[in-house]
Amino acid sequence: MIGPGGREHAIVRSLLRDPNVSEVHAAPGNAGISELVPTHAINGNDPAAVAALALKLDVDLVVVGPEAPLAAGVSDAVRAAGIPVFGPSKEAAQLEASKAFAKAIMAEAQVPTAMAKVAVNAAEAADALDTFGAPYVVKDDGLAAGKGVVVTNDRDEALAHAQSCFDVGGQVVIEEFLDGPEVSLFVLADGRNVVPLAPAQDFKRIYDGDEGPNTGGMGAYSPLEWAPEGLVQEVIDRVAQPTIDEMARRGTPFVGVLYCGLALTSRGTRVIEFNARFGDPETQAVLARLKTPLGGLLLAAAKGHLADVEELRWAPETAVAVVLASHNYPEAPRTGDRIRGLKKANRLEGVHVLHAGTAADEDGNVVSAGGRVLAVVALGTDLVEAREKAYEGIEAIELEGGQYRTDIAAKAARGEIIVESKGKGATA
Ligand code: AMP
Ligand code: GLY
Repeated sequence: MIGPGGREHAIVRSLLRDPNVSEVHAAPGNAGISELVPTHAINGNDPAAVAALALKLDVDLVVVGPEAPLAAGVSDAVRAAGIPVFGPSKEAAQLEASKAFAKAIMAEAQVPTAMAKVAVNAAEAADALDTFGAPYVVKDDGLAAGKGVVVTNDRDEALAHAQSCFDVGGQVVIEEFLDGPEVSLFVLADGRNVVPLAPAQDFKRIYDGDEGPNTGGMGAYSPLEWAPEGLVQEVIDRVAQPTIDEMARRGTPFVGVLYCGLALTSRGTRVIEFNARFGDPETQAVLARLKTPLGGLLLAAAKGHLADVEELRWAPETAVAVVLASHNYPEAPRTGDRIRGLKKANRLEGVHVLHAGTAADEDGNVVSAGGRVLAVVALGTDLVEAREKAYEGIEAIELEGGQYRTDIAAKAARGEIIVESKGKGATA
């Protein structure tokens, strides 16, 4: 398992529950992962280092968690060493690494998405902003850990964000605003075939009520009771399969997880973005419910055998994940703060803690080591119960300056999420 975060902790935990998985290693891992499996202090973004470690450990499968190693070509190096890998090639990972590339693929595959223009200077940016009007959506074209997007009614702020991208030699994608609730759907792909997981919802902004700057994600829940019937099939038919087909047609087959970030707008389902990896923290909620052994699934994807996989099995419960972030996240997260109460939270029934930015200090105490520090994941018979448990868990944990949202899954629990266009055929 390559990666340091909460998503990787969730994946390792699921892999260990797979009866056919005999051994798991992680690199670099975090303080939570190292309690479960041996960890290796290599640079997970270095293709040669990862391939060398995989050969040394003689593994049957390498799973790449985050986007950075994918964009750096880690999957290519491992594949070249003859080891199956769950994670797209550098070229296929462009679906996430370049928003302009993703738009081009979607246009070719006729995948419904926001209308967009690429701008490389202030004049082009101004022109694009005025084409689509407010609210303005300006996206850094490259990887920005979910933080490169500005959505605002303030034209000057939109222009300023574009300028900050031009200043460092980048380009931006400016697009029409999409209304409606957002959905994250993870679709496993083996280059040709696709298998969807259960849909989830993520909370991108730092503060309650979707206020404040975008983050990597402050919480998630799954499944989505309010999702229109047929949504998953619609996304497979109109989004995932055409995209995977187009990537194969270009000779750059996509193997791994195609993360479809969707808006259920009044005019139908639209892709907001693709990612080339599992989402964080949606994975923490989604995998908590997956009963089908994960190792077999990821290996089938890596080896091109997804067509042989049986229908996935899920726990009937609802899962909620609430992220605890460090002081000053996302601007300038403070690290090195002691974390207490982890055991207490883990002992609660139906609750588990997944580490993200954590490390052990010299005395063996767990301290914060990143922006998003951990997630408390809870299963409950419904959203109300799962939320209660997740918040009980997060309240048991102490982190000085720690921040968490108190409204993860609250609107859904109150039945207040409204999809204006329901069901199949709404993509017109
Ligand atoms: P992205 O990095 O493209 O996922 O964008 C991050 C977040 O910005 C999304 O989860 C949305 O909440 C918001 N966003 C991105 N694109 C749009 C859009 N076209 N319309 C409305 N909101 C958007
Ligand atoms: N939760 C959003 C992401 O993983 O990009």
